[in-house]
Amino acid sequence: MKLARNFYRPLAIGAPEPFRELPVRLERMIHFVPPHIEKVRNKVPELARTVDVVLGNLEDAIPLDAKEAAREGFIAMAKATDFGRTGLWTRINALNSPWVLDDLTRIVAEIGDKLDVVMAPKIEGAWDIHYLDQLLAQLEARHQVKKPILIHAILETAEGVKNVEDIASASPRMYGMSLGPADLAASRAMKTTRVGGGHPDYKVISDPVEGEARAVAQQDLWHYTIAKMVDACAANGLKAFYGPFGDFADGDACEAQFRNAFLLGCAGAWTLHPSQIDIAKRVFSPDVAEVKFAKRILDAMPDGSGAVMIDGKMQDDATWKQAKVIVDLARTVAAGDAEMAAAYGL
Ligand code: GLV
Ligand code: MG
Repeated sequence: MKLARNFYRPLAIGAPEPFRELPVRLERMIHFVPPHIEKVRNKVPELARTVDVVLGNLEDAIPLDAKEAAREGFIAMAKATDFGRTGLWTRINALNSPWVLDDLTRIVAEIGDKLDVVMAPKIEGAWDIHYLDQLLAQLEARHQVKKPILIHAILETAEGVKNVEDIASASPRMYGMSLGPADLAASRAMKTTRVGGGHPDYKVISDPVEGEARAVAQQDLWHYTIAKMVDACAANGLKAFYGPFGDFADGDACEAQFRNAFLLGCAGAWTLHPSQIDIAKRVFSPDVAEVKFAKRILDAMPDGSGAVMIDGKMQDDATWKQAKVIVDLARTVAAGDAEMAAAYGL
């Protein structure tokens, strides 16, 4: 194991110092863009004003004969756009693919100072992060990149889930993680062709009562994995995200999946279709009434200790911390979203 004192040393001479504190940014939705399509690229400056993160996708969903066009298109759109406070991410190809080396060498050379985060698919263990960490440091050093490029891993193989804690703590570059339900379902031999969401056959039924129909409740296929990912991320100071929801026509199911992830501790989700942007905004901005109540808890307990009653509900040191999570998040939302700032009164 690496010595603790070496953990924050740059991995290449001339690479920027790793962050000791990760940046706090609003990332309710990571909006996926296929950068090989010129028409889509041309809309990115406008898109960047409506989402928290723009991600240029180079991996799955990009046709094999468009891999280079996607990479070069991403570089072109990154150069042509002023992203302001909006994050700029890319999803690179898998580490075992023939494209990933060129993805990283071209992108860091051309726009290394503009790129915030590399999303790395199909991460299986700490060894994948170590490889990427070293390579990014070499490229940052070569191109005199000023701030470290962060890593976001996709949790989408059974082996990755098994090793999720090692992945989360593998490098100071680790910034977050997303659940990839499609690849993960395949890797685990789950019997679903859906991209995220529930399944009508994954359910519990009530006991039989003569003459009565049995109540049925569909269950969440992803509960266990999201909870496991959230624990690994929270324990290492990283942000956890729900990934894609594939049925664009079913906004209600998308919202339910996003909300379950939000309540369990996730910071955001992927948006693959414009209709999902407003859903993510709504779900991952804390509820106005909840923020106002949380603010009352903080105001009633200025030093965060003791016990008080508010509206008949007991508050103490622990509920003060719960309230702080909500109010801190609301402040982050308010800083990037004037409409929400007004609604929260912050
Ligand atoms: C995303 O990449 C997924 O596999 O769900
Ligand atoms: Mg995938």
